[in-house]
Amino acid sequence: MSGEEQFKKIISHCKEYGFIFPSSEIYEGLAAVYDYGQNGVELKNNLRQFWWKSMVQMHQNIVGLDSAIFMQPKVWKASGHVDGFSDPMIDNKDSKKRYRADVLIEDYQGKITAKIDKEVGKAKDRFGVTFNLNEFLTTNERVVNYSNEILRIDSIMKEALESGDLQKLKSLIEELEIVCPISGSKNWTEVRQFNLMYSTQMSATDGESELYLRPETAQGIFVNFLNVQKSGRMKIPFGIAQTGKAFRNEIVARQFIMRMKEFEQMEMQFFVKPGTELQWYTYWKQNRMKWHNALGTHTENLKYHDHLKLAHYANAAVDIEYKFPFGFKEVEGIHSRTDFDLGKHQEFSGKKLQYFDTETNQNYVPYVVETSIGLDRLFLLQMCENLVDEPLENGEIRTVLKINPVLAPYKIAILPLVKKDGLPEIAEKIYNDLKFDFNCFYEEKDTIGKRYRRQDAIGTPFCVTIDYESIEDASITLRYRDSMEQKRIKIAELHSFISKEINWKNLLEKV
Ligand code: GAP
Repeated sequence: MSGEEQFKKIISHCKEYGFIFPSSEIYEGLAAVYDYGQNGVELKNNLRQFWWKSMVQMHQNIVGLDSAIFMQPKVWKASGHVDGFSDPMIDNKDSKKRYRADVLIEDYQGKITAKIDKEVGKAKDRFGVTFNLNEFLTTNERVVNYSNEILRIDSIMKEALESGDLQKLKSLIEELEIVCPISGSKNWTEVRQFNLMYSTQMSATDGESELYLRPETAQGIFVNFLNVQKSGRMKIPFGIAQTGKAFRNEIVARQFIMRMKEFEQMEMQFFVKPGTELQWYTYWKQNRMKWHNALGTHTENLKYHDHLKLAHYANAAVDIEYKFPFGFKEVEGIHSRTDFDLGKHQEFSGKKLQYFDTETNQNYVPYVVETSIGLDRLFLLQMCENLVDEPLENGEIRTVLKINPVLAPYKIAILPLVKKDGLPEIAEKIYNDLKFDFNCFYEEKDTIGKRYRRQDAIGTPFCVTIDYESIEDASITLRYRDSMEQKRIKIAELHSFISKEINWKNLLEKV
């Protein structure tokens, strides 16, 4: 299956099984905005909980925060978002459509990648079982030229983006003869920067004032630094963690929940003594990769992307990238942000944001190491990593979401074999006993085989079937999702069995 096909399958699976729906679908949807369905919300809550527990519950020196989405507009002036948080956009004069300049170029690269895929497909057919993909990619002249062209374009684009050279981006679009997908013309405007923040109005007695919807959760942490430090008597080094919605006017709707206008971030700002920040940066860089590995993500699908050119406020930065079906892309960023943010808020607010170090008897503005992960991107990662099609002995294919049991939307499905003869009564009793500790699914309809398939597709790790033997000996059949192995177990032992298998500790002790 090609990457594109795999991605389409994931998107349709998410809709069919109640994970993710396009927003306001009955009104034709809203670009780059999505709703989480009955199974999606459970999985998303569990992912958020895992992050929260591993940050806040597992660290004595990290505490949580839930700051408001609306903030004093001066916050965004101080943080640099009003003046500098923008994307390079270009308009086609004929279609009057606006595009992100870098995305037009990426799409052009995508077309070259499609040519490589086509050559690979043809070669596979020609060479059959003797086909060696690696050898082909590195020796076939046409494919090597295509790959080199992608790299050349990449390096020009990255340099232009990092140095903010908009003319260079325009020249690249012209050199590649990129046309507007709607009008087909090359009649482009200059490339200009457009701010990504959404604004709205707040009524006040002295009129209306303009507010922004926060584009990141981090600033709520910075402005509360002293509140938390003083009220919690926190000693440096310490961290403040927060999860919540962020909003960005992403013009280009693409790649499903990868790039949304309304999304959720999980961020932690770690406040440290100046001079120790690079030590802590290394610590968090390693810790966050370990966290991803604890979730069972294959190591070959994760990699670091160190930033060679740094933002003006950072002295080190790295992305953790995941191999999505459309290539390696950022899931999380770890940034050593120096004292830039606290320093700017101190300057703009006129309030001292300093820490008194009792060991050295000195006041200083702490340095900050940030870890920032998108919850929606993590969700997509989980889907890409764990949704598999498995051939069965009878020739059928089963689709199974092999997600970590602790994260699964439902932990146990309780399934009476038939809807009569007292089996539903036993099943309901089991449900009512387990529901206090585990999210359980109850279903009587359809054949047991069909019910198992539906639970596989939403990742339920255990199915419990109540049959006629259950009446005789108070036992049930327990079926494992991944191996499909089945065993008899006494109803009285079910709770303790599930408790051992599904326990946050199993996951948290790996981090
Ligand atoms: N406070 C730092 C910050 O916001 P960022 O790299 O802009 O850094 C952090 O965002 C993370 O938020 C990204 O790694 C990504 O997972 C997620 N993210 C950013 N923009 C997003 C979008 N439009 N849709 C979904 N997730 C997004």
